[in-house]
Amino acid sequence: MLWLLALFRAGCVVAGPSYSLRGSWRVSNGNGSLELPATVPGYVHSALHQRGLIQDPYYRFNDLNYRWISLDNWTYSTEFKIPFNLSEWQKVKLIFDGVDTVAEILFNNVTIGKTDNMFTGYSFDITNVVKDVSSLKLRFQSAVLYAAQQSRAHTRYPVPPECPPAEQKGECHVNFIRKAQCSFSWDWGPSFPSQGIWKDVRIEAYNIAHLDYLTFLPVYGNYFQNYFAYERLRIVVGLDNTSQAWTIEIEASFDVVSPEPVGGQVTVAIPKLKTWQTNHIELQQGQRIVKVLVKIRKDFAVETWWPHGHGNQTGYNMTILFALDGGLNIEKAAKVYFRTVQLIEEDIKGSPGLSFYFKINGLPIFLKGSNWIPADSFQDKVTSELLQRLLQSAVDANMNTLRVWGGGIYEQDEFYALCDELGIMVWQDFMFASALYPTKQGFLESVRKEVTYQVRRLKSHPSIIIWSGNNENEVALRVNWFHVNPSDMKIYLDDYVTLYVKNIREIVLSEDKSRPFIASSPTNGIKTMEEGWISQDPYSIQYGDTHFYNYYSDCWNWKTFPKARLVSEYGYQSWPSFSTLEKVSTREDWSYNSRFSLHRQHHGNGNHEMLHQVKLHFKLPQKTDPLRTFKDTIYLTQVMQAQCIKTETEFYMRSRSEIVGGQGHTMGALYWQLNDIWQGPSWASLEYGGKWKMLHYFAQRFFAPLLPVGFEDEGVFYVYGVSDLHRDYHTKLTVSLYHWSSPKPVCSLVNSSVVIKAGEAVVLFKKPVSVLLLRCGRCTRETCVVSFYLSTDKELFSPTNYHFLSSLKDAKGLVKANITVNISQQGDVFVFDLKTSAVAPFVWLDVGNTPGRFSDNGFLMIKSRSVLFYPWKPTSKRKLQQALSVTSLTDTY
Ligand SMILES: *[C@@H]1O[C@H](CO)[C@@H](O)[C@H](O)[C@H]1NC(C)=O
Ligand SMILES: *[C@@H]1O[C@H](CO)[C@@H](O)[C@H](O)[C@H]1NC(C)=O
Ligand SMILES: *[C@@H]1O[C@H](CO)[C@@H](O)[C@H](O)[C@H]1NC(C)=O
Ligand SMILES: *[C@@H]1O[C@H](CO)[C@@H](O)[C@H](O)[C@H]1NC(C)=O
Ligand SMILES: *[C@@H]1O[C@H](CO)[C@@H](O)[C@H](O)[C@H]1NC(C)=O
Ligand SMILES: *[C@@H]1O[C@H](CO)[C@@H](O)[C@H](O)[C@H]1NC(C)=O
Ligand SMILES: *[C@@H]1O[C@H](CO)[C@@H](O)[C@H](O)[C@H]1NC(C)=O
Ligand SMILES: *[C@@H]1O[C@H](CO)[C@@H](O)[C@H](O)[C@H]1NC(C)=O
Ligand SMILES: *[C@@H]1O[C@H](CO)[C@@H](O)[C@H](O)[C@H]1NC(C)=O
Repeated sequence: MLWLLALFRAGCVVAGPSYSLRGSWRVSNGNGSLELPATVPGYVHSALHQRGLIQDPYYRFNDLNYRWISLDNWTYSTEFKIPFNLSEWQKVKLIFDGVDTVAEILFNNVTIGKTDNMFTGYSFDITNVVKDVSSLKLRFQSAVLYAAQQSRAHTRYPVPPECPPAEQKGECHVNFIRKAQCSFSWDWGPSFPSQGIWKDVRIEAYNIAHLDYLTFLPVYGNYFQNYFAYERLRIVVGLDNTSQAWTIEIEASFDVVSPEPVGGQVTVAIPKLKTWQTNHIELQQGQRIVKVLVKIRKDFAVETWWPHGHGNQTGYNMTILFALDGGLNIEKAAKVYFRTVQLIEEDIKGSPGLSFYFKINGLPIFLKGSNWIPADSFQDKVTSELLQRLLQSAVDANMNTLRVWGGGIYEQDEFYALCDELGIMVWQDFMFASALYPTKQGFLESVRKEVTYQVRRLKSHPSIIIWSGNNENEVALRVNWFHVNPSDMKIYLDDYVTLYVKNIREIVLSEDKSRPFIASSPTNGIKTMEEGWISQDPYSIQYGDTHFYNYYSDCWNWKTFPKARLVSEYGYQSWPSFSTLEKVSTREDWSYNSRFSLHRQHHGNGNHEMLHQVKLHFKLPQKTDPLRTFKDTIYLTQVMQAQCIKTETEFYMRSRSEIVGGQGHTMGALYWQLNDIWQGPSWASLEYGGKWKMLHYFAQRFFAPLLPVGFEDEGVFYVYGVSDLHRDYHTKLTVSLYHWSSPKPVCSLVNSSVVIKAGEAVVLFKKPVSVLLLRCGRCTRETCVVSFYLSTDKELFSPTNYHFLSSLKDAKGLVKANITVNISQQGDVFVFDLKTSAVAPFVWLDVGNTPGRFSDNGFLMIKSRSVLFYPWKPTSKRKLQQALSVTSLTDTY
């Protein structure tokens, strides 16, 4: 265990001692038959696994085999010697940053409190029970049993859903417990409702006063006023731009033990902004809140924070020093960033409804990205390295936004700090998802604490651009997903408004007026408010955001998709690569119809839906070797997923600047989902552990700052130029047709004077396909493919994109490609020089479990190509050669 003196400084009294209780504890089960060491922070499952008492919980069917662990009641205990002289301190506190979830806390055998919410911190006064040698016990109750108990106790009316669908193999009544909602299973994840102390725990002793929390928020102009404007004017004005000055609102809360008033001063310093401000404060005994406004001089140019792809993520070091009577000095350092956010909902010419888009620092920004779920069922396995890898991968794929989805967790501090640094905008849900929720007094009180705690913890992060009350609960009520009796509907509507509006929204607005708040996603924004918070059609594509899923229509047909204002969820499933599955399975599992393959699929009919889409445009694997067939099927599901989401995303990207039939002005595309919680089929583009699926390489291309999009409408082929750049560019567009059987273009059309407009999507090319084919002579829809790119005189200016003129199962002239690879090392990266004997679609390089990513993958290969491999851990040319497999479409024939 660690023993540290916070902020020790020679010559003055500093904040009191802080003693961390991280480290090795003991954990035992309900009847005492098991007792073992357990690491804190950590979970019971991890302790059992580390001790060798269970296998990897993710292995094969272990989610079912280990159900007993979550049904048992575990007790964490520790004993320790307090490393400071207790009689020198007036007050001692026990502080938990996170307990998961229901526990009774005993300090030296005295019950000092209870916990029932994993999303809030807890602190307990232990002054009267603490001894030099002390013991601490957390008697957990099974989350599953607790949820069932709470549900039973809710006798007035049911709060559905009772249980998840059978194929999820999950637990029931998760809506009755403030715990990650997906921990009872989801349609992409297992049920592992573990118990544990999942965040820091420590003892803090103090005299005079204790800093309980410190939070700050940079604001531009006067938000308070604007919040009312927002209600009145149908425009979400996130800021008043008239005063044009930045202010930092700082709020600190103290527990003052000194019976005399404590005087002192608070000094805020931001050296790079030449800002030093000192305010006098006086604190009376008890819980005291100090608020300070720090004005940044108007004449000083503040560099704003920008999302990735739009500018720098400039931040400033700030220190806040409280110098209190009695020589007590408490100093905190933080990084402060400046940016404004507005959610614009206003009339659009030529369209009913309202716009729904974000302006950052006054600039309209298209949200490009995905949805984030917890990176593991067991948060103690989520390392800083993993978070960095996943978030860096988002940025590497040209994303600028992630939605932290409401069925998981409020992520750890480091997640948001990384998003700040990387320029990832965060759409932050509150943790309620796809269910109705109770509103009993105790539940509401717990939620109120949670929301207050989280907003205070997170609001200083510029990355967070919106708060959203829940995931899909507005639509769940409107469409009556859970079949509640229509005559009881009023009860549920009232509960909805009570929870998300009268409680959560009220707290958010009192703690943070700098960001928009919506009650749900999807929602109709202002229209939802006007319609009493449950809109007539929350899926409306002319208001707010929308979610869209359709697995049976042809995903190559863009007319399948909604020309909506902002699409915050959409997607298709695929299987993770064989090397990822191999770690949790055995030979008998390696076929698409195995018991394992069915077991891992938590979405009803999901495996069938994937093959359905594959079959629309591809031939199913034709090999006889069962393992080869399994691998080829995995490959094809990834090809299908990548191609479907490409078509859909490109449709959203090119719809940003137009209104067609009253629809369009699309300003965001966040596909479902970025990452995986375990090794199974899902909508993710990153596999469990971070390996890129084919979709993620596609995302890197379809989210490029400058993208040519090709599509057909009524037999006419169009190319749009979609730009996220801040100025117009004159470029050259090249459109070529290639015969499947030849590496030489059949013909190329070049327009060397196309103009790409800043932040817009414009038509660059338009020709009937029949004319195009005729011009090129030797081409038919089945024999040729269209390829196009933007370039300047010297270099490529966009990814090279393509358009298929027919399904690939009908393509003529495609032959087996012999692709040869030569690997060489250049410093930290490896160069893969590829040559192909024939045009090859969807060329896929796979180096198995070697951690790292390629610069490009899953591409259409004409002749030769060099790609880089960026290893995430040291490796060698020899290892890569051994691990490498290359697959292209015809290899599955
Ligand atoms: C766990 O605790 C609950 C409630 O206190 C109790 O009903 C149940 O029997 C306990 N289970 C075990 C395995 O100890
Ligand atoms: C104690 O609990 C474990 C785990 O639930 C169970 O396997 C065992 O049978 C129980 N032992 C007794 C004596 O009840
Ligand atoms: C602890 O502090 C008290 C009060 O200052 C003092 O009387 C006592 O000697 C100290 N004990 C130790 C072990 O230092
Ligand atoms: C707590 O109670 C147990 C028995 O109930 C006893 O053995 C132990 O000494 C007590 N511990 C403390 C610190 O009082
Ligand atoms: C971003 O930072 C770089 C390096 O500090 C600087 O050269 C550039 O001008 C900055 N860009 C903007 C838009 O502020
Ligand atoms: C800002 O603070 C960080 C962390 O304390 C430090 O590493 C960095 O050097 C500081 N930057 C400047 C410009 O002072
Ligand atoms: C404030 O308004 C001015 C003038 O309209 C504009 O140039 C500036 O970008 C705005 N600032 C912000 C932070 O929106
Ligand atoms: C080139 O494209 C522009 C539209 O960007 C169009 O106005 C122009 O006519 C095209 N030129 C040729 C030669 O097709
Ligand atoms: C593939 O090409 C390489 C190099 O040109 C050649 O050595 C090899 O025999 C070819 N393989 C097949 C199956 O044609």
